[in-house]
Amino acid sequence: MAKDSIGVIFGKTSSLTFRFAVSDSLATRRADYIKVWHESEGWTLAQVSTITSSSEDFSVDEAVDAAEGTSKIGDMDEHIIADATVIGVRDKEGVLRVPKSPFSPGDKVFKADELLIKQTLGLMRGDVYIGLLDGQSVHVNLDANNLVQKHCSILAKTGAGKSYTGGVILEELLDKGVPLLIIDPHGEYASLKLPNEDKPSSFERYGISPKGYASQVTVYTPANKLLNPTADYLFRLNGVNLSIKELSQFFSDSQSQNETGMLFEAVSKLKVEKQNYSIEDIIFEVGQNKSKVKWNVINKLETLKETGILSDNATTINELVQDGRASIIDMKGVNPDLQAMIVAKLCTDIFDARKMNTVPPCMLVIEEAHNFCPEKGFERTVSTDILRTIASEGRKFGLGLMVVSQRPARVDKNILSQCNTQIIMKVTNPNDLKAISKGLEGIGSDVEDDIKSLPPGVAMIVSTYIERPILVDIRTRKSKHGGASVPVVKDPLDMTQRTNYGPAKIDEQQGSIDDKTGSIVDPNVMDITKPVTNSQKIMENARTIVESPRNLINKARTIIESQRIDTQKNESQKTGSSNMGSSKKEPPQHHEEIKEQIERKKGKREVSLYRKMFGSRK
Ligand SMILES: Nc1ncnc2c1ncn2[C@@H]1O[C@H](COP(=O)(O)OP(=O)(O)OP(=O)(O)O)[C@@H](O)[C@H]1O
Ligand SMILES: [Mg+2]
Repeated sequence: MAKDSIGVIFGKTSSLTFRFAVSDSLATRRADYIKVWHESEGWTLAQVSTITSSSEDFSVDEAVDAAEGTSKIGDMDEHIIADATVIGVRDKEGVLRVPKSPFSPGDKVFKADELLIKQTLGLMRGDVYIGLLDGQSVHVNLDANNLVQKHCSILAKTGAGKSYTGGVILEELLDKGVPLLIIDPHGEYASLKLPNEDKPSSFERYGISPKGYASQVTVYTPANKLLNPTADYLFRLNGVNLSIKELSQFFSDSQSQNETGMLFEAVSKLKVEKQNYSIEDIIFEVGQNKSKVKWNVINKLETLKETGILSDNATTINELVQDGRASIIDMKGVNPDLQAMIVAKLCTDIFDARKMNTVPPCMLVIEEAHNFCPEKGFERTVSTDILRTIASEGRKFGLGLMVVSQRPARVDKNILSQCNTQIIMKVTNPNDLKAISKGLEGIGSDVEDDIKSLPPGVAMIVSTYIERPILVDIRTRKSKHGGASVPVVKDPLDMTQRTNYGPAKIDEQQGSIDDKTGSIVDPNVMDITKPVTNSQKIMENARTIVESPRNLINKARTIIESQRIDTQKNESQKTGSSNMGSSKKEPPQHHEEIKEQIERKKGKREVSLYRKMFGSRK
């Protein structure tokens, strides 16, 4: 076989495929890029699609003997045969062409060089360095403008490396000064601030060095500093002079006409009467309505008010979207309904701001996108419509979208189909695989097998400007990755890892630590972590407003019981006898506590009942 060549074409050939005999078992592998000289087109790029090894002289019996060690594998006649798919040649105008005549048997096959691979695949103009072609040293750079303006998606099963890859792209975009707004449900992206502390060998392979982006990244929490102490600022939405449109954005289930009418009436009246009105004012006005529907509306408004997200000192879009900066909305500790409300409001505001050009062109990153833009048939969320609009119209206004999801089948198909670059990592769920392969134009369903077997950290990239799907070893992060798995089984000998599994710790300044969630519970801070569904809330309110007979009887029983204990206590004090030592009776100070608690609860319920029914007007 000729020097430098890795094989020779034989058998039946066409202009699209050929077979070649491989020189030795290590010469090439599946998915390698190869080149062949075509008599009219010149050097043509092809890719190894399958590779097989066989020996006709080596019988089944001989194979069994060799496996059992009773005979040696002699100089058997092993054939390594590879099938190749032709990718093509770039002509002078830069158009990719596939030769019109077949390759000739006897033509030599060579390993393709970096320049030919990059030129032919369309990787020459990219500036977002995301890694190396799988198993090779060819740098893969994606085009920043294409990636941002024409949207991209990162789809993979849990733990396959979505957030890691997302982080790599965000680092590159930050290096280029692209403003970013990141919706981060699990608090994985704040670590962009810190440099990666991985082993140096991984940096050498990819030719990068560790870097933290602390000066460019700001983390906001819609919760509070106790739940999210590392956040830089609180994130709040405007609660002053809310319009009907703004109010409607907050409510996840579709509003009835009556409800909208009621809100409209209340807001219109307030606009005439007051220069500035708050949500309390709206609740009060709705409370004046005679219709029973008002309780639904009041319930929704109360729920919104109780989240504490509304403020007269709101976070502005101009603050969030700034040249060269990334703003992370760290949703850790925020209930899912409120998360969707925040995303809906933010996306609407940012889209409007881009239309009016009051903020620079930017990219919106939506992690766990299946929660914010679910496919039809799954639970609807308030953020779906605006995300669809951004996916279809954002490009015209310089607003890009990156959607990240572990459940591609559950993400709105309209949105996924608008993503011109799809970064796909290992997926095994059949529905998700189908959803992905259906969305890949011009690519056969055999791609599903490739996606199923992708190793962690390797992505298949399908893009309108890359000629065919490519496999990429995603580069090491420059900054620290924040989504690492938490070990479930700890080394029992490592005492430094010991955590307190006993009763909840109490810290007077911090509050107590919730044993289930591990989060700090401050009695003075509102808990917005509990999911509140509207129907659940309606039931709760109904129970508070209309006391059930059973509740009243129970309450009466408790009061009678506490009075009985009091009488006993007084009598025993009078007679000088002591209850100490009696196992049936409570210690004396406990009676006072019970009485106090009942009084406190009674007082509280009366106030909240009053507020729920009539609101309070400032
Ligand atoms: N390119 C890579 N290089 C090195 N390690 C990687 C790479 N990609 C992923 N990993 C490793 O895999 C782990 C899981 O990755 P990642 O957190 O991105 O998963 P995920 O797909 O976002 O999972 P989830 O759906 O649970 O959020 C990381 O902690 C990291 O250790
Ligand atoms: Mg993740």
